[in-house]
Amino acid sequence: MISDLWYKNAVVYCLSVESFMDSDGDGVGDFRGLTRRLDYLHGLGVTAVWLMPFQASPGRDDGYDVSDFYSVDPRYGTLGDFVEFTHAAKQRGMRVLIDLVVNHTSDQHPWFQSARSDPKSPYRDWYVWSDKKPKNADQGMVFPGVQKTTWTRDPIAKKYYFHRFYEFQPDLNTSNPHVQAEILRIMGFWIQLGVSGFRMDAVPFVIAEKGPDVSTPKEQFQMLRTFREFLQWRKGDSVILAEANVLPDDDMKYFGVDGDRMQMMFNFHVNQRLFYGLAAADARPLAKALKETQSKYDTAQWGIFLRNHDELDLGRLSPEQRQAVFDAFGPDKTMQLYDRGIRRRLAPMLDGDRRRLELAYSLMFTLPGTPVLRYGDEIAMGDDLSLPERNCARTPMQWSSEKQGGFSKADKTFLPVISGGGFGFETVNVAQQRRDPNSFLNWIERIIRMRQELPEIGWGDCVSLPTSDDAVLALRYDWRNNAVVILHNLAAEPKEVVFRVGPVDGEPGRLVDLLAQAHSEADEDDRHRIVLEGYGYRWFRVGGLNYLLDRSDI
Ligand code: NOJ
Repeated sequence: MISDLWYKNAVVYCLSVESFMDSDGDGVGDFRGLTRRLDYLHGLGVTAVWLMPFQASPGRDDGYDVSDFYSVDPRYGTLGDFVEFTHAAKQRGMRVLIDLVVNHTSDQHPWFQSARSDPKSPYRDWYVWSDKKPKNADQGMVFPGVQKTTWTRDPIAKKYYFHRFYEFQPDLNTSNPHVQAEILRIMGFWIQLGVSGFRMDAVPFVIAEKGPDVSTPKEQFQMLRTFREFLQWRKGDSVILAEANVLPDDDMKYFGVDGDRMQMMFNFHVNQRLFYGLAAADARPLAKALKETQSKYDTAQWGIFLRNHDELDLGRLSPEQRQAVFDAFGPDKTMQLYDRGIRRRLAPMLDGDRRRLELAYSLMFTLPGTPVLRYGDEIAMGDDLSLPERNCARTPMQWSSEKQGGFSKADKTFLPVISGGGFGFETVNVAQQRRDPNSFLNWIERIIRMRQELPEIGWGDCVSLPTSDDAVLALRYDWRNNAVVILHNLAAEPKEVVFRVGPVDGEPGRLVDLLAQAHSEADEDDRHRIVLEGYGYRWFRVGGLNYLLDRSDI
């Protein structure tokens, strides 16, 4: 089963083609450039690549405003280049996931152009219209402060259209069976071209009822099963990774109580408490969030991430908790976004402090689920806060200290390469970190290798062990007669913790340190007493290294 459900023990790397590698010197990354960098990703230990939208688009929301779902934007190459890329990834044993953005289209999409200009257009009912401005038009904006409304008047249709996001992203009427059929067609197309699944954008909005009279939209959860069924008929091992920032009580509605809906979902609930934990040196809300998001079908999986291409959304923390994270990681207004989040990359948030970076990534790689790494994070890339909104964290990959960080031969790139200061390409780049055995890049590579040898984390049951200190998170995983224990000290000061692992087979009293020579033997009361340095982390195998022989098949 383990090799079949590849996503349960995968390491996902998220990138946008635009910002990764420019092969033709036009200042924009492309598929040919990305394909040449596949050996780098393979060497890092990445097992799946998630591509952000690369289809034709006016590019007003970094590609999340698609104007042709069946194309590659000419700036990034051709469909031929895309297929060469998926083939090259497959040759290296790497899977490809792509963004599926079907909650809305660009307003330039021919469907919308036809729908707005002709009441009899077959596409008219593909969008959501109202003759009058609905009462709730100034509610439910996803980008508050930037987006003013969710209903905008179209002068051509002489009607208002609904847009959950920016006004140039009209929502598709996903209740329309023709729209649903088209979504399946889009999935079928890309599956045929070699992808292993989709990161589905804005899932709660895709399945929500939409319309001028809808005040509390109900979700049409059966749609998720339809997507899943279709995909698995076409390609049995393909998956959907849902972007759904929902409350734990709703998790099972997305996964499906019988495991028949989304295979994967990002764990936003844990993400926010993780950042609170790092900010306040308090592991308790994180431990609680892990418990609250624990129940799911065996085949379902969480995507665990630190930062992504959007702002760090702190919207579901309490006001005090949110303030604590702002104070620690984004005190300046220029670092914040949409009244709820922080737009910085992780490394500057942590002042480039290696100990805290290792702590954060050690957490990401050992919380229950599949880690999703963002491009550039493996070299601790920085951000450019002079760029608007979320663009600050979408700058070109820094490959070397050559011109434009080795990203492009062009004099001008789509966004400027970060240059100068502590995070400039002159000092933060792949080539330099490759040469340095102690670099962050080499640390990430080693941690990925170890994580791949710990399927207990991807598959196992996780409980948090009581310790004597609130700043320390102690997790125990059990899977097929094997157990591991992972400790993290979120505080700057060293901590001594005393804890019991609980019953195990084999040599119960022994914890073998997987990353350092610091094993632990329990005392006669079965207690371990371990000193963790400030921001320290420890990965242990319980009961010695005979674990592979002890591992059972069920
Ligand atoms: C969520 C994406 O992550 C974000 O980048 C985008 O702006 C919105 N969905 C709209 O597609």
